[in-house]
Amino acid sequence: MFRRSLLPIVRPHPSDLPGLVYDSGVEEDGVILSGTTRLPATGETYPVRGGYLDLLGGRLGGDNVANLTNFLPGAGRGYEPLWRVRSLKLLTGEKFPNERELEIIARKVDLGRGGLYLDLGCSAGLYTRNLANSLGDAGDVVGIDISPSMLHEAARRARKTGATPSFVRADAASLPFADASMDGAVCGGTLNELGDPARVLRETRRVLRSGARLAVMGILRAQTSNGRRLQRFLSTGGIRFFTPEELEEMLDAAGFEPDPLTTNGAVFFAAGTRL
Ligand SMILES: C[S@@+](CC[C@H](N)C(=O)[O-])C[C@H]1O[C@@H](n2cnc3c(N)ncnc32)[C@H](O)[C@@H]1O
Repeated sequence: MFRRSLLPIVRPHPSDLPGLVYDSGVEEDGVILSGTTRLPATGETYPVRGGYLDLLGGRLGGDNVANLTNFLPGAGRGYEPLWRVRSLKLLTGEKFPNERELEIIARKVDLGRGGLYLDLGCSAGLYTRNLANSLGDAGDVVGIDISPSMLHEAARRARKTGATPSFVRADAASLPFADASMDGAVCGGTLNELGDPARVLRETRRVLRSGARLAVMGILRAQTSNGRRLQRFLSTGGIRFFTPEELEEMLDAAGFEPDPLTTNGAVFFAAGTRL
């Protein structure tokens, strides 16, 4: 699913001028459910199928083992019921339902101002569909991910709740959107999985308007020796863990004014304002 009104800001490659057009397919209330879009300047076409606009085609997008597990069949279906519903309880040691996390993210990204929000590495779309439902007519959300399995599940779950966000298969390291086209961005757990998180933050700054907010949830570097041992093992698959100082430095270097970091056990909530 992809909202037709957002096609003008889509730019499949950094060298393209933004502006896809809708050729044909199935559209309902301004949302393309399936069909073909095209970049007029090059004639290249990009399909909307399986619940998302696919800008990567045969390209994987993932660059580490952790990413590639998200491509396994069933990865999307199992992600929320098997992991996401209890992930923050396990990582913080406190009662931490998804609703509490979503409230924190909505507050930190300043959802109240409305507009267009980006969900970086949306997986099964927990943030995307909930933010879209909270926004209602006040805005829109685009979820991006590289995993077809995750995006397919994200669209299925969104439809079930009545939300109509847009989903795009794209690499966060090269965001397929025009400069200053978004009013806010969220990122739940994905920063830990990215090959080049600093580059993704710079790209995020590029697509945000001045003054827009970024809200990120992720996992901190462990403090105990057992925790560090486990994280060293996970790092071999490409997952990285951050200290509060590294997070602040990365946000600052990417062009954000960072808020003081909030932490709950192993989990951080970082946020900043796009300068
Ligand atoms: C930890 S999960 C995200 C969870 C999700 N945000 C949530 O709150 O439930 C990380 C996701 O990032 C995606 N991902 C990894 N590298 C990416 C990249 N370079 N661009 C876009 N998505 C990426 C993975 O496919 C995976 O679905």
